[in-house]
Amino acid sequence: AAMSGATLAKERRELRQQEVEAAEQESKVDLSSQWHDPMANPDSRQFASDLRNSKANAGKSEGVPEWKRAIAPKDQPLGKRTNMSMKEQRESLPVYAFRDQLIKAVKENQILIVVGETGSGKTTQLTQYLDEAGFTNHGMVGCTQPRRVAAMSVAKRVAEEVGCELGQEVGYTIRFEDKTSPSTRIKYMTDGMLEREILIDPDVSRYSVIMLDEAHERTISTDVLFALLKKTLKRRPDLKVIVTSATLDADKFSEYFNQCPIFTIPGRTFPVEILYSREPESDYLDAALVTIMQIHLTEPSGDILLFLTGQEEIDTSCEILYERMKALGPNVPELIICPIYSSLPTDIQSRVFEPAPPGARKVVIATNIAETSITIDGIYYVVDPGFVKQNSYDPKLGMDSLIVVPISQAQANQRAGRAGRTGPGKCFRLYTEAAYNSELLPTTPPEIQRQNLAHVILMLKAMGINDLLHFDFMDPPPTNTMLEALETLYALSALDDEGLLTRLGRKMADFPMEPALAKVLIYSVDMGCSDEIMTIVAMLNMPTIFYRPKEKQTQADQKKAKFHDPHGDHLTLLNVYNAWKQSGFSSPWCFENFIQFRSMKRAKDVRDQLLKIMQRYRHPVVSCGRDTQKVRQALCSGFFRNAARKDPQEGYKTLVEGTPVYLHPSSALFGKQAEWVIYSTLVLTVKEYMHCTTSIEPKWLVEAAPTFFKVAPTDKLSKRKKAERIQPLYNKFATEDDWRLSAQRRGGRG
Ligand code: CDP
Ligand code: MG
Repeated sequence: AAMSGATLAKERRELRQQEVEAAEQESKVDLSSQWHDPMANPDSRQFASDLRNSKANAGKSEGVPEWKRAIAPKDQPLGKRTNMSMKEQRESLPVYAFRDQLIKAVKENQILIVVGETGSGKTTQLTQYLDEAGFTNHGMVGCTQPRRVAAMSVAKRVAEEVGCELGQEVGYTIRFEDKTSPSTRIKYMTDGMLEREILIDPDVSRYSVIMLDEAHERTISTDVLFALLKKTLKRRPDLKVIVTSATLDADKFSEYFNQCPIFTIPGRTFPVEILYSREPESDYLDAALVTIMQIHLTEPSGDILLFLTGQEEIDTSCEILYERMKALGPNVPELIICPIYSSLPTDIQSRVFEPAPPGARKVVIATNIAETSITIDGIYYVVDPGFVKQNSYDPKLGMDSLIVVPISQAQANQRAGRAGRTGPGKCFRLYTEAAYNSELLPTTPPEIQRQNLAHVILMLKAMGINDLLHFDFMDPPPTNTMLEALETLYALSALDDEGLLTRLGRKMADFPMEPALAKVLIYSVDMGCSDEIMTIVAMLNMPTIFYRPKEKQTQADQKKAKFHDPHGDHLTLLNVYNAWKQSGFSSPWCFENFIQFRSMKRAKDVRDQLLKIMQRYRHPVVSCGRDTQKVRQALCSGFFRNAARKDPQEGYKTLVEGTPVYLHPSSALFGKQAEWVIYSTLVLTVKEYMHCTTSIEPKWLVEAAPTFFKVAPTDKLSKRKKAERIQPLYNKFATEDDWRLSAQRRGGRG
C-alpha cells in the first residue's frame, strides 16, 4: 500500500509490455519491417492507404456494418474495470486528500473557485462530499455540465458510487429529458437547463449549492449563469456557488467573482513526450489511423485516444480501422475500437470506460468531449490531428454554422495531458511544430464572442433584463453580435420597435430551442397545424434519421424515396414519423425501411416533451390533416431568413446575402424545379448545402416577416413577377436606428 503511484504505474506498464511482447511472439509478425515510425518516415503511410483501397469494401452486407456489431454492447462487460472497491476507488482520487479542507472552504465562502487536473475527481466527488457534509438537507446540490453526454455519464457514475438507482438520490436533467425525482439530492444538468430554471425561479430556491463545472469551456450558458448567479448570491446569502476549472485561468474567474478564493487540487500527472509531424499532413484522417496502427503494433501496451471532429468522421474512421485490422489477420493483438460522441447510444458510450482484456489494446476515438468533460483511464497515447468542430456565427449567412477549425494551443496541451494520467505517455501531433507555434491561437475565444446570441438575449429579456449593453458579462460579446441578435428577434417579432419583449417573444422564451423554431411552434397554432409542426420540430432535432449503409445505398435510397413529399424534406420527415406511428412505433418497421430506430424513439420522446410544454402553456394542438400547405407556411414564420431562390445558372442564392447555396442530393426536392425554398441549416462540405429544404411561395415570406421583407416596386413588372418580387429590407450596415425606422409594425403585436 506504500507503493507510490509512479512505481505502480511503471510496474503495470512493464507487465503489459511483457503481455504484448508475448502476443507478438506468438503472432510471428515481424512488425518492425512492416511498420515504421510515422514521424521518421511519412512514406510508410502509403502502405496503409493501399490497404484501405483494397480492403475497404470487404465488409459483410448485413444491415449493421461489421465494425458496429463488433462494438455493440455484449452481455458481459469486456473486463472488470478494476479490482478496487468503489470506496477504494473514490479514496484513490487526488481530491480525496482535500475533502475536509474543501468542505471547510465552501462553508466559509459563498463563492469558491476549484482548480484541478481533469480526472482529479472534481465532478464526481465534490457533489458527494457536499451531500455527506449535510448541504443537501436544505436543497439540492446542482452541478452543471456544458455537454449532455457528460451530465448523463457522470450522473450514472455517481449513482453507482452512492449506490442508488439513477434518477433517485442522484439524477440528471438535459433538454427533453428529466431523470430526477422528489428524492433527488445531487442533480447533474446541462448549463442550458439551469439557465432555463433561473428563468422560472431567479433565486434558484431549490438549490443549496450550485457547482458550475467545466467553467473553462466558457459556453454561452455558463457565461450567462456567471452573471445571473452573481446577482442571485446577493439575494440569497445562504446559497453557495462553486466554479470549477481544469485549467489555470482561475485568476480571471476569481477577479470576476469579487476576488473570491481559489482552491487548487495538486495534480498527479506524468510527463508526456510530444511528437510532431515532420511535414503538414494532407489527409489527417488517414495519418491518424496509420499512427494508431503503428502505436498498436510497435509501442508498449497502453490505450490510445484519438481526437476527431464529429460523428461522421468518427464512424468512418472506426470502420476503416476495423477493416484494416481485420486485413492483418488473426495473429496480431486485438485492437478494441470505441467511438464516443454525444449522440451515441448510452450503452455503447459506457463501453469506453471498460478496460481492454489482457493482451488487447483499446483505442478510443472521440470528439473533444474527451478533452476535459470525461476521463477515460489507462490512456498512454494521444493522437491529435489538431482540429475541432466549432459552432460559430457566420454574419454573412446570418446564422450559426458548425465549422472545423484548428484547436488552440491550450487545447492541444489539454489533449496531450490526457496521455499522462496513468503513467508517462506520448502524444502524436499530426501537425508540425511550426504550425503549433505560429498557427494555433493561444486560447479559444469564449463562445459568447463567437455565436449567435438571439436565444440568450430572448431569455435575458424574458427575465426582465433589458439593458444588455451593461449586463455584467465576464467577457462582453461584441456590440455588433448583440445588435444582430436584437435584429433577429425583432424580425421574428419577439421584440418591438423599442427592443422590448412582445407577448409573442415571452411565449417563445418558454421553449428550450432556438427562437426561430419556437416561433414556428407558436405560429403553427394560429395556422392550425401544431400537431404536424411538433413532429417536424422533434424530427429536426435528430442528427440522423435515415440509415444508408455503403453496401446497400441504392436500396436505402429507394426506401427513402417512398417517403418523399413533393414539397420537400420537412414534410418528408413528417411522412416518416407518421408511417412509423402507423406501424405502432415498430422497430422491425424501421429496419425494413432503413430508418434509425433509436433516432425515431428519441424523436418520439422529444415530441412528448414538446407536447407537455404546449399543454403547460395552453397552446392548442391542432392538425391540418391533408392541408400541408399550412405546415410550409408555418415554417416560413421562423425560417424566412433561410430563404433562397433558384439561380438561373446553377443552384440557389440566399435572399438575404445572395450567397450561392445548393440542394443536397439527398433532398426530396433534388431534381425538382422548386423556385423558392427555405432550409433549416446550411452544411458546409464540398459546397454550401442546404439541409432540410422545403418549397414555398414568396408571398408567405412577406406575410411571415413584414418587417424583414418588402415587396419591391412593381410598376414595371408583369403580374406573375409582381407576386414573386420581394427584397429583404435587411441591411447589414444600417445602424440600429435605421432598421427601426424602416420597420413597419406588425398587426396584433404588443
Ligand atoms: O471532474 P474531474 O475531471 O476532476 O474528475 P471526475 O470526472 O470526477 O473523474 C474522476 C474519476 O472518476 C475518473 O478518473 C474516472 O475513473 C471516474 N469516472 C468514471 O469512472 N466514469 C465517469 N463517467 C466519470 C468518472
Ligand atoms: Mg470534471
